[in-house]
Parts: sequence; C-alpha cells; structure tokens
Amino acid sequence: MRIVLGVAGGIAAYKAAVLLRLLTEAGHSVRVVPTRAALEFVGRATWEALSGQPATPEVFDDVTGVTHVALGNEADLVVVAPATADLLARAAAGLADDLLTTTLLVARCPVLVAPAMHTQMWEHPATVANVATLRARGVHVLEPAVGRLTGADSGAGRLPEPEEIAAAAFTLLAPGTRDLAGRHVVVSAGGTREPLDPVRFLGNRSSGRQGIALAAAAARRGAVVTLVAANVALPVGPGVEVVRVETAEQLRDAVRAAAKDADAVVMAAAVADFRPAATAAAKIKKQPGGVAPSLELVETPDILAELAARRLRSGQVVVGFAAETGDADGDVLAHGRAKALRKGADLLVVNAVGEGRGFGTADNDVVILDAAGDEVARAAGSKDEVAHAVWDAVLPLLAAAR
Ligand code: CTP
Repeated sequence: MRIVLGVAGGIAAYKAAVLLRLLTEAGHSVRVVPTRAALEFVGRATWEALSGQPATPEVFDDVTGVTHVALGNEADLVVVAPATADLLARAAAGLADDLLTTTLLVARCPVLVAPAMHTQMWEHPATVANVATLRARGVHVLEPAVGRLTGADSGAGRLPEPEEIAAAAFTLLAPGTRDLAGRHVVVSAGGTREPLDPVRFLGNRSSGRQGIALAAAAARRGAVVTLVAANVALPVGPGVEVVRVETAEQLRDAVRAAAKDADAVVMAAAVADFRPAATAAAKIKKQPGGVAPSLELVETPDILAELAARRLRSGQVVVGFAAETGDADGDVLAHGRAKALRKGADLLVVNAVGEGRGFGTADNDVVILDAAGDEVARAAGSKDEVAHAVWDAVLPLLAAAR
C-alpha cells in the first residue's frame, strides 16, 4: 500500500523515523512529506535514506510531476505524526501552503493524525475546535499520550508511541468495507450516574465496552461518529468524537444535540430509569439513633422511546439495546419482544445479562429484533463482532430511508 507520512515541526519528529521504519518493514511504500519546520528537527537526508523516496516540503520542487495532487490521489492512507497545533489549524482551515496541506486537501483515503504539543496548546479552545472540525470531517485524530514533554514538564500532549500509531495505521489499511462512508452516526455508551449528594450517586455496572466497539466499528466502516460516553474509563479508538456526560439528563441533551443531523442513533448506554427526586447540596450525614434516610425516586425520560416516537431527522434509524435476565414472566427473548413493541425503535439488540454474561465482559450473545419484535439476526462473539452485526442490520434500513 502507499502511505504518505506527514511530519510536522515538533520535537517528536525524531520518533516519526521509528514509525517510518515500522511502516516500511510491514511492506508499505512510504513517502515522507515533512513541513519546513520539521526539517529544523530532522533533516531531509534521514527521511530520504529511510524511505528511499524524495522528501520535500515544497510544492514547487517537482512541478512537472504535479506532486501536490498526485501524492494525495495515489495514497491509500495519510498519516501525520507528529501533528503540531499549527498543522492542525492549517488542516482545519483548509490552507494549502505546502506539500503536506495540499496533499491533505486532495486525499480521499483515510487520514490518521497523531498530535504532539505542549499541554496548554493541546487544551487551548482553538486547538480543541480544530480537532473537533477534523474529526467531524472523518479524520482519525489519536489522543496524545500523557507524560514527559520537551523539557522537565509533563502532561497531555506527548506523541503516542510509534508502535501505537503504526497499529492504528494498519487497522485503517486492513481490507474492509467502507459501507458507512458519508453517514453520521451517534452511539451512546457507558452507565449514567444520578447524584444523591456531592459524593454519592446511583449508578450501574456498564463499562461502555459495547458502545465503544460500536463506535470503532462504524468509524472503520467510514462513518463520522459521535460517541456520547457516560462515565466511560476505557480508551476510545481513533476517528470518534467523544462527548462526555454523567447523568441521564445530560446524556439525553447530548444525544439529541448530536442526533439532529445523524443518519442513525444507537442507544447502547445503560441509562438510569430513576433518579433521586432531590440532590442534597451537602453530604448526607448519619442520623442520630441509627435512623436510615429513605430515598424518593422519580422516573427519568426514556431517551430511546422519545427518539423513536419523534424522529429528529426524517428516515433516521433508531436502535436500542435491551439487557434482560429472564424471570417467571418470560425468558430473555419474550421480554425482548415485549420491549421492542414498547420502545418503537427500528431495531432492538437483546442481550442476556447476569451470571457473568454481558456487563464488563468481552463476549456477548445477542438477538437483533425489528420494531415488530421479529428476529432479524443473531450474533455471538466479541463485542466487536456484535458491533459489526448491528451495523449490518442498520445498513438496509439506511438504504431504504434514502
Ligand atoms: N433507555 C433510554 N432511556 C432510559 C432508559 C433506557 O434511552 N431512561 C434505553 C437504553 O439505552 C437501551 C434501552 O432503552 O437502549 C433499553 O433499556 P432498559 O433499561 O433495558 O429498558 P427499560 O425500558 O428500562 O425496561 P425495563 O427496565 O422494564 O427492563
């Protein structure tokens, strides 16, 4: 495969030499496109010797070859590592003042960006907005690592290790369909927390793993993905915009805001059905005489049912999850069917939980039902396999809505 490796002008440019090695050793043809500033850190000879190809930041070095168009057109993947704050800003603005930015404008293949800069620059609202813009366009922006920076200081902004960047690059190059290209999907993940007082909450055991797998699978299939993550501690893969929330109400607001222009919404989050009627402003104290306080609960809005009943966009596909245990009133599937009819979603992914299955585990066993409660598909295996089965079931509904 042909890879363009863009290198911007940061101290971490030297690590791109290791990344270049990993990419060429895997059998790929890599053309390094440094920025002018990158050459202040690592010279042209290093890039040309290691890649066996010319390495210039200039559009005018090979005018007859029209490299500023050819490189982007021919690439199967563009990787920018390190991406400085300046490079992110130029890419987000669509500037074309050197060979790397012109290549980024021409390329229609996957683009992977590994930022590296000082923490203050990474956290500046301008950089935050530029990263959000790039992610909304489908660029896979890795989160920088936390650790030692250029000087004695440390924080978020370190270039991820070359092995990690190479792994993300290989995932993007892996053969696979990009059948969700041009689609925007919203996935909710994790479990909500409803505060009782400043230190306590009502919560659940959801890890967010299934929602993260759904988001990653959609990104790999070419979708622009927004993940609304409730109390998720696990890492989220590249190419996914993450909106972090805590409570059911915040999750509802974030999902509805993101879903306004979405083709599909998948509610994989475990949303609290009830929250405390009141949140104490100060920590609730033990009462004298061992009197336990009683807790008044109120129902939270059913986000899934709302999305299904009043679509935020015509033709929007709405998918729910149902975690069921089965009881005296019926087995897992009977409860799932009843829920499919009750919720009105286009698809309901019924998942057996309890006794070591479902929550927090790597493997899943699901049945996908349609709005009438009829079985559409079954999937068993890793949460990644289940995620792909869900998108496989969503695809025909998206096509029908067009
Ligand atoms: N859900 C939601 N809003 C809520 C509760 C749940 O959007 N307030 C969504 C979940 O994200 C999931 C689906 O509804 O996609 C199923 O949730 P579940 O809690 O299993 O369903 P309930 O309606 O709460 O049914 P029950 O508790 O009776 O099993």
